[in-house]
Parts: sequence; C-alpha cells; structure tokens
Amino acid sequence: MFDSGVGGLTVLHECLVSLPQEDFLYLGDTACFPYGSRDPARLRERIAEIAELLLDRGAKLLVIACNTATSVGEDVAREVAAARGVEVVPVVAPQAEIAAAITDNGRVGVLSTPNTVESGAYRRALEKQGRALEVTEVEAPALAPFIQNGSLFDEETMAMARAYCEPLKRAEVDTLILGCTHYPLVSPMLQRILGRDVRLVAGGHAVAAAVQRTLERDGIARPPSGGEGTYDFLCTGDAEAFRAVGTRFLQMPLGEVARVEIDGGL
Ligand code: DGL
Repeated sequence: MFDSGVGGLTVLHECLVSLPQEDFLYLGDTACFPYGSRDPARLRERIAEIAELLLDRGAKLLVIACNTATSVGEDVAREVAAARGVEVVPVVAPQAEIAAAITDNGRVGVLSTPNTVESGAYRRALEKQGRALEVTEVEAPALAPFIQNGSLFDEETMAMARAYCEPLKRAEVDTLILGCTHYPLVSPMLQRILGRDVRLVAGGHAVAAAVQRTLERDGIARPPSGGEGTYDFLCTGDAEAFRAVGTRFLQMPLGEVARVEIDGGL
C-alpha cells in the first residue's frame, strides 16, 4: 500500500486489525509530499512508478491508501496492476457509501486536499449512491502538511482548523467525510470543532473490509490461524523522519525504514 506520507498508516492500522496474518509493505512517497497540490498529470506518472515498484516486490494486492492518489490516478494504478493480474483497492468509494448510508439530513461534507476536490471524485462517488445529497466540499491545503510534520497543536493550528470547518458548519452537515487519509489522525480536534452531532467518516475500516473480501474472493488470503505476518516500510524522503512520526501515529515500532528512489513524475 502507498500514500504520500504517514496518512496511509490510518488505513494500514485497520488492515492490521482485520488481517494480522498478512504481510504488509507500505511506501510513503515523502519526497513528493504533499500530493494535494502537485500537478495531477505528473502525479499520475509517479503513481504508475510506485505501483510498479510495489508489484516488483511481490505485492499480491495493491491498496491506494491516499485519497489524492485515488482521485487523480486510480485508473493508472489499476492499469499497471491489471497487467500483472493484481487487484487494486482504493479509498474514496467506500467512504461515499458509508456517508450516504448514515446521513440523516442528507447534508454531507467532504474535507480533502485541493487535488481531490478538483478531481470531483467524491461528488461522482456520492452521486452514484442513489440518494439526493447536498454535498459541501472544503479544501484544506495546510492540514495534511501540519500532520505530516508532526507539528504541535497551537492557537494557529486551531484557527486553521476552525476556518476549514466554518463552511461545513454553515452548511449544517451531519456527516463529514475525512477525505484524506491523514485526517483521522486529528479527528479529536475536528470532532470538538464540529460537535458531537456530526459523524466523521474515515475510510480505513471499509478499505480493510474490501481488502479482506478481495483476498478471500481471489483465494489468496492467508488463513487467520497462520500467526502474525510481517510489516515493512519504505519511503522516498528522510527515513528517520518517517520512522519517528510513523511510530508515534501507528503506535508500534516501525523498525528499519528503507529509503527508495522513484524516477517517474514530479
Ligand atoms: N494522505 C493524502 C490523501 O489522502 C494526502 C496528503 C497530501 O499528500 O497532500 O489525500
């Protein structure tokens, strides 16, 4: 699985809860973080390279643990993986399904990166749910970098988060899609600003369920009694910085983080 940084660890966490017997290889493309405001065309080249790299290392399934990468390059990842007979599990669609199912007033908010909003991926995914929904999308360009840098919560951070939540409050959303895999890491702050009546929808759990279904359907799941699998981490930027922030967020030792070079894109 891959993300631009540590956000995808929120998806990995859910997969480790559901499928501890599987082996996981996680790549954080930290040299190119943030994806949220990168040129989408170049991002697509990068995603193809990352998919190739993970498949070269023996991935039997590819999880796009990044909403921005899913929004701008799900098709590219699928194309690369399909050429090797490998399935792809993306984010975005599973969250749209949950949000449409649980909203009472039909007002759904989406907080995500600029690229994700501009791609229209959530709007399309929500439209497919067959229910009339009022969708309010908000770009939060500074939120993922704040999380990725492991910054402290200060007054400036709170002001930034409040400003992002303001249009959501005004629209009276009762359900908010955390449209970036980094955001569940600050859900306590968002929940406080929005209040208890707003349900926050993170994608990790649904993605883990989709991973399990796909592995079982294709007959490539490990038996649950098979003991604990392995987990390995790669990143394209500073390995020590990734290890430090990642260990804190995942709340387990990441071990060695290997640095890898990727040619494509950015
Ligand atoms: N975790 C990534 C996402 O889900 C985003 C952060 C970024 O690279 O801008 O969109």
